[in-house]
Amino acid sequence: MEQEIKILAIETSCDETAAAVVVNGRKILSNSIYSQIQLHQEYGGVVPEIASRKHIEKINQVIDDALAQAGITLRDVDAIAVTYGPGLVGALLVGVATAKAMAYAANKPLVGVHHIEGHISANYLEYPDLEPPFLCLVASGGHSHLVLVRDYGEYEVVARTRDDAAGEAFDKVARAIGLGYPGGPKIDRLAREGDPDAIFFPRARIEEAPLDFSFSGIKSAVLNYLNSCAQKGEPVNRADVAASFQKAVVDVLTEHTMEAASELRMKQVALAGGVASNSALRSAMREACRAQGCSFYYPSPVLCTDNAAMIGAAGYYEYQKGVRSGLDLNAVPNLKLGEK
Ligand code: KG4
Ligand code: ZN
Repeated sequence: MEQEIKILAIETSCDETAAAVVVNGRKILSNSIYSQIQLHQEYGGVVPEIASRKHIEKINQVIDDALAQAGITLRDVDAIAVTYGPGLVGALLVGVATAKAMAYAANKPLVGVHHIEGHISANYLEYPDLEPPFLCLVASGGHSHLVLVRDYGEYEVVARTRDDAAGEAFDKVARAIGLGYPGGPKIDRLAREGDPDAIFFPRARIEEAPLDFSFSGIKSAVLNYLNSCAQKGEPVNRADVAASFQKAVVDVLTEHTMEAASELRMKQVALAGGVASNSALRSAMREACRAQGCSFYYPSPVLCTDNAAMIGAAGYYEYQKGVRSGLDLNAVPNLKLGEK
């Protein structure tokens, strides 16, 4: 029988305080998430200082929850995995300090995990048979990357955004049309009532790096459109704006991903990150993968947005490779994928 490695994982890089217990990188025993979204809503975005304080208040409770739901105690854990970057430094520090204290007190190995590696690994939880290599589009509030997953823990970034992340563009446009934070799910919902072809918003291409993304142009085009309507005194159909903006972003994400898959001869394509729960992106990618003969993978929404189960999956593969972090592990707010 295969040995069971239980990882206790901790994630506090942004506005979710999360802990989980994952077995062998594939099976979730518990996935406890305290979302701070409501707290940040009145400010229209995440306030770093408030996020750090709330993490401190909630972290112990969330970890206790994760262990209790898994039906185990800290003694039964084989290793502790924690996100150490990228993210908000004060927020990351809460998770890192907690993980270090627990690892020291219980004499357990500590494994520092890259947040994006976590997002990608959410696919291992959803699809127990998925194996690398595959191409993964990681689209979240802070990142828009195309990552070639060569093997477990081996990544090559083949494209990245030159300016805004996809989720950031969703959040900014949502604010401009009065939908509030976080904008992605709200635009997703409103877009269903609008016409995606009502307004054309330009899709940018970077000549010297055609797979890279740029979303600030689309966002500015939406803001210009809203301003010009206001100046002319014309009413704005918010559902049409949401649907047309969403289509522009989804077109770009889908086209670049499929081009990269074809260039790299990848037949497995996955999504990850908060924007991966967007319904229009999922259906466009499903159709594009079908047309190009690729298998398509995407985690369920709760595993797309920030959670600790994905950190437990990534942490397991790092642990198996022998990666161990010392008690000098520090938060690295701008950690690059593939850096140690
Ligand atoms: O992965 P995540 O929870 O945090 C980061 O690591 O950034 O992603 C959050 C982002 C936010 O920008 C949010 O607006 C976006 O993901 N998002 C969505 C949807 N759900 C969340 N964007 C588009 N459509 C959605 N359904
Ligand atoms: Zn994230």
